Parts: sequence; C-alpha cells; structure tokens
Amino acid sequence: MFADRVLSGMRPTGALHLGHYHGVLKNWVKLQSEFPCLFFVADWHALTTHYDEVAVIGANTQEMVIDWLASGVDPSQATLFVQSRVPQHAELHLLLSMMAPLSWLERVPTYKDQQEKLSEKDLTTYGFLGYPLLQAADILIYRAIHVPVGEDQVPHIEFSREVARRFNHLYGKEPGYELKAEESVKKLGSKRAKLYRELRDKYQETGDDGALEAGRGLLADAQNLSMGDRERLFGHLEGGGKIILVEPEALLTQSSRMPGLDGQKMSKSYHNTIALREDAKSVEKKIRTMPTDPARVRRNDVGDPAKCPVWQLHLVYSDDKTREWASAGCKSAGIGCIECKQPVIDGVLREQTPMHERAQKYLDDPTLVKNILEDGCEKARKLAEETMRDVRNAMGLGNE
Ligand code: TRP
Ligand code: SF4
Repeated sequence: MFADRVLSGMRPTGALHLGHYHGVLKNWVKLQSEFPCLFFVADWHALTTHYDEVAVIGANTQEMVIDWLASGVDPSQATLFVQSRVPQHAELHLLLSMMAPLSWLERVPTYKDQQEKLSEKDLTTYGFLGYPLLQAADILIYRAIHVPVGEDQVPHIEFSREVARRFNHLYGKEPGYELKAEESVKKLGSKRAKLYRELRDKYQETGDDGALEAGRGLLADAQNLSMGDRERLFGHLEGGGKIILVEPEALLTQSSRMPGLDGQKMSKSYHNTIALREDAKSVEKKIRTMPTDPARVRRNDVGDPAKCPVWQLHLVYSDDKTREWASAGCKSAGIGCIECKQPVIDGVLREQTPMHERAQKYLDDPTLVKNILEDGCEKARKLAEETMRDVRNAMGLGNE
C-alpha cells in the first residue's frame, strides 16, 4: 500500500569509526539503490542521554553527515535529514504519548540496561523513558516498512509495532466503519469483492497467513481504488480498522562483527577504534602498535593466529592468499609481526582512500552539507506532514 520505505537514524554522539562503516553504513549504501531511503541524524535521541553535554551535538551532526557521505551514502538517492528540523516527529511523539502505556515503556529492555551501563549519568528523566516512543514516532511518521538496525534495537522496533497496532485499534475505526468497509468492498467489482470476502473470512476464521497474503495481493493489484478505500480494505482484511500507522519490521544487518585494535568488538567505549577518516600516519601507528599473540615474544617464537587481534583484521581485509601467507608465516615464525601487519595497514588505507576523496569537497565547502540537509529536511517534512494530517484527523484534531 505504501512505498517500501527504509528509514534509519544515528545519534550524533561522536566521530564514526570503521565499525560503523562495516556494521551500518555499507548496508545503507546498498539499500539506497534498492528502496526509497530516509537516513537521519537523531539529535533529540542524543539529548536524552547527553542533555548536559549539548556542545558536542551540533558539531557532531555536521561531521557525522560528512562520514555518511564519505562512505558513499548518496544524497541524490537517499534523503538525509536532521530529526530536530522536522518538528512533526515531536508532535507525533506527543500524540502517541497519550495512548502509550507506561508499563510498555518501562518494560523495554534498553531502559534499565542503559541506566545501569551509563550509571554516571542521571537517566531517571521523562525524556529517557520516552526514548523508544520517540523512535516509534520517527519510524511511524514515514510509514517506513524496513528499519535497518542492529540486534540491540530489535525491542524498539517491536515496541513501534505494538504502538502502531494500538493506535490503529483505537483510532482506525471511523463512525459507521462496517458500512463504509462494505461500500469499499463493492468498489472492487463483483468478482474481486467475492474473492476478497472469501479470503477475509478465511483469515478471520482460521488465521491462514496464505489467505492474508492473497488478500493483500488482490488489493495491491486492484486499480482505481482511492487511497481511503485502499487503507480501509487493508485494515478490514486483518479485522482491524483503517491502517493509519504501518507496522515496521527490523531489517537486521547481518552481524558483521568488526574487530577493534585489541580484538574486542570495535567500539568507542573500548578505545580500540580507527576513525572512518583517520589520517594515514595515525592508522599506520595504531596498527603497528597493536598487540599480537602474546606467545610471540621474540621473532623466532611461533605464534597462533587464533590468539591474535591482527589476524581478526586479516579476516576483514586480506584475500585468501595473503591470509595463507600470514597464517603459515605466523605458525612457523617465518614472518615477523610487523611484516604480517603491513597488508592489514594497506587494506585499511585502501578502504579509506575513496572516503577521504569523497569527504574532501564537503570539508572544502561546508555549505554543500548544509544544502543537502536543507533539501532532505524539506522532503522529510512533506512526507511527515502527510501522515500527521491522517493522525490529527483520527485523533479528533483535524480541521477537515
Ligand atoms: N536508537 C537508535 C540507535 O541508538 C537510533 C534511532 C533513533 C533510530 N531513531 C531511530 C534507528 C529510528 C532507527 C529508526 O541506534
Ligand atoms: Fe599476529 Fe601476524 Fe604476529 Fe601471528 S605473525 S602473532 S598473526 S601479527
């Protein structure tokens, strides 16, 4: 019914590193050519945890968007915008807050987890409790179907689905709903209407997913239905009211665990990162000083790649031949660790070269970034406003 929109956001809480590139951005670049994509800077979400360090947020926004562009995110394909410049997100968040049960929010696992993890911060705030609801508003306002996120965000997507379902249940039934639904069915034409009724009954009675799918297919193919009829029929098929907000799905990024300089997952909190646009000298130095298999104290000691963080990086950056060379050389003490590290250094630098190139024009002329975001925000506001009109009407706030 709605375009297969993809939406994802990132909080501007620090410079991006190669873990973000491999875990998130590479995937965004792929998706942008397959779906209409919206990618945004979640600066309000950053405020929920950084409300006492606001200076970093503005500066990080600009830098982060340059990192996206450097990675190949393309503003002529995807819409890039900043959450706080699309105030409709806040309006939807407010309206959803009227009907979002407090217990649902308290139950979201990240609520307690993050409070414990970031125990140096006072996160007993109204805004932090509402974090998943703001995220639900981000997603639902674009009727996005696919939300590329990591494993840790799945509960937030599930929460968004529940909020959408509750919203549609509460507000999706207009007065005279059954009658109107029957009118809409008739507009399918007698043959299709008969099939639609059969499939609907079958799904309602037996929960047969095949019937649901077939019914959806039938509606998707039906020409010359108005948007209103279409929405009503999709909702009616499932036994609910009109679908005003669409249930999104998590699009799990296949877990490519990017190792950091110490072999743990690359993460800012472990201080083991290589920045996305780190300069070559610094990359070289970081990799040269990486720890290796502790058993290789001297050049003649044999080692075991399985115990070495450098090997983890070979798995990301080297081809089979280089890996064989490194592995055999390590186990036989045929090569030294500095030698072994060189192809990894080369691999990282090779990956970063086009990033530096792409970033340069934005560094030279920051108004380019400003313009990209202005365009993106404008587009986002238009799309968001379409949904808000339906939401306001459904909640008795419309003027139509
Ligand atoms: N909570 C997400 C994170 O920490 C960021 C985010 C905010 C987001 N709103 C979103 C992601 C909407 C996907 C969709 O990574
Ligand atoms: Fe690690 Fe390579 Fe040294 Fe072996 S030779 S310990 S794999 S850096």
